[in-house]
Parts: sequence; structure tokens; C-alpha cells
Amino acid sequence: MSTASAGTALITGATAGLGAAYAEELAARGHDIVMVARDQERLEKAAADLARRSGREVSVVSADLSTAEGIRAVEERLASDTAIDILVNNAGSALFGPLSAADPAHLESLITLNLTSTTRIAAAAAKAFAGRGAGSIINISSAFALNIPAVGAVYGAAKAYVIAFTQALAQEFADSSVRVQVVVPGALETAIWDGSGIELHQLPKEAVMSPRDAARAALAGLDAGELVTIPSLPEYTMWQAYDEARLALAPVLSLSQPAKRYIG
Ligand SMILES: NC(=O)c1ccc[n+]([C@@H]2O[C@H](COP(=O)([O-])OP(=O)(O)OC[C@H]3O[C@@H](n4cnc5c(N)ncnc54)[C@H](OP(=O)(O)O)[C@@H]3O)[C@@H](O)[C@H]2O)c1
Repeated sequence: MSTASAGTALITGATAGLGAAYAEELAARGHDIVMVARDQERLEKAAADLARRSGREVSVVSADLSTAEGIRAVEERLASDTAIDILVNNAGSALFGPLSAADPAHLESLITLNLTSTTRIAAAAAKAFAGRGAGSIINISSAFALNIPAVGAVYGAAKAYVIAFTQALAQEFADSSVRVQVVVPGALETAIWDGSGIELHQLPKEAVMSPRDAARAALAGLDAGELVTIPSLPEYTMWQAYDEARLALAPVLSLSQPAKRYIG
């Protein structure tokens, strides 16, 4: 029997991989779920299965987030459904290979999904949550944002954007009850690799995590108040040291004079 809802989580890309693992974990924590993906049949089946197993309310939005129309449908849901208090901004696709060989239409579609939809959906949630003074925005990046792959310029850079974007949002919401988090998973055992240019079987087993473990670690990181959660990172201080090195540059990044070595 269903108990009182802990709130509603809208999860993009919720029918497979990491998004499905988030749906499972958040439903187990008592949240109702809004699942977003393209394939209506798979959505309805995943929603019915999760509702039956968890006793939570699970609804669906069928939307292709590599299109303006699909992005708008999710923006509208975030604006109108006042029960939503968690966004898991997860849907994404991967492409690996030399940039010189990439199909421009494929690049465009990846950029719309991984960058434009992530940005606009986070902005819609930011507006809704700021108005209510509460909510959590969880953006999904990737270890390729930091460990930049030779053949993943667009994917790696798009995921680096997600980290910088979330760090800026965290400053915007510093004095508010709205929470933001960026999750930076390493390789996960999901179908995203299929046809991406790198196949899952090419990766060493010890480098690949299950999506369930990654979602659980990410939610534990959220509970602990982390802004950046890297599920496999042994010590949070390792991330802090990396980020402090970036911040140490701040006083000398914008000065009236060029550095001496550039002056003839
Ligand atoms: N897997 C990894 O190794 C890994 C590592 C680090 C970060 N990540 C990131 O984690 C996130 C989830 O990846 P995943 O591996 O779980 O992916 P996945 O297994 O390929 O699952 C993708 C999910 O997103 C949906 N989706 C795909 N394209 C969509 C579109 N255009 N519009 C709406 N929904 C779409 C899919 O359903 P439909 O096909 O029905 O739309 C499915 O529900 C991504 O942002 C990815 O970059 C993954």
C-alpha cells in the first residue's frame, strides 16, 4: 500500500541505465516519479513495473530531448507540476571518434541533448524551485569531463560544461534552500556505449560500475551535501584539492597588464 509521498522526482532518460536506477532508488525512498524518455511503449512498461513494485505514483512524459518540442514538453511539466521537487537531469548520449570523421547532424543532436536540453531543463527547474524556495537539481556529468578522451572532444567538453554550469548554479543558490549537485560517474554498465565508438567489452571490468551502485552513491553524496559527487573517488578531499588549484588561479586571471613573459 502506498504511503504519503516524499515529493516527486522528474528523471530524464529514466527507462534505462543510470536514470532507471535513480527511478528505482528514489521510489524506494518514497518519491513519486515522472519518467521522461522517447520510446512510449518502453516508458509505459517501465512506469507500470515501477509503480507495481514500489507502490508509488509513476507518470510518463514521452519526449525527444534532442528536439525543441521535446525540451518544451519537459519545461512545461516542470512549470506546471508543483509536486516536483527533484530533477535528475540525466538523459544523454555518447559519441567517440575523431572530430574530423564525425557526422555534423549527429554532433548537433548530441549537443542539443547533452547541452541544450540539460541547460533548459535545469533552468526550468531553477525557476520553479526558486519560486517555492525548495528543491534539488541533479545534473549528470561524466569522468570524461576530467579525464578528457582523445576521441571524445564533444562528449568530454559537453560533460565539462555540466560541471562548470552546476558550480555556477550552486553559487546562484548559495543562500537558498534549493540544492544543486553534479554527479561525475566513471564508466557504467549501460547501453550508452552501443554504437558510440567505444564498446563496453573494451573497458577493463574493474573500471566499470553498475548503474545501481552509481545511483546509490550519488544519492548518498546528495544526502551528505556534496556539490560534486564522483562515485568511485576514494576521498572527497581529492576533488577539493583539484578544485582549490583552480580557485588559486582566480586572483591572477584578470589583470591590467600581460604577464612579464609576454612582454618583449
Ligand atoms: N554509461 C556510462 O558509462 C556513463 C558514464 C558517465 C556518465 N554517463 C551519463 O549518464 C547519463 C545516463 O547514461 P546511461 O548510460 O544511463 O544511458 P542509457 O543507458 O543509454 O539510457 C539512456 C536513457 O535516456 C533516454 N534517452 C536517450 N536519448 C534520449 C532523447 N533524445 N530524449 C529523451 N530521452 C532519451 C533513453 O530512452 P529512449 O531511448 O526511449 O529515449 C534511456 O531511458 C548520460 O548523461 C551519460 O552521459 C554515463
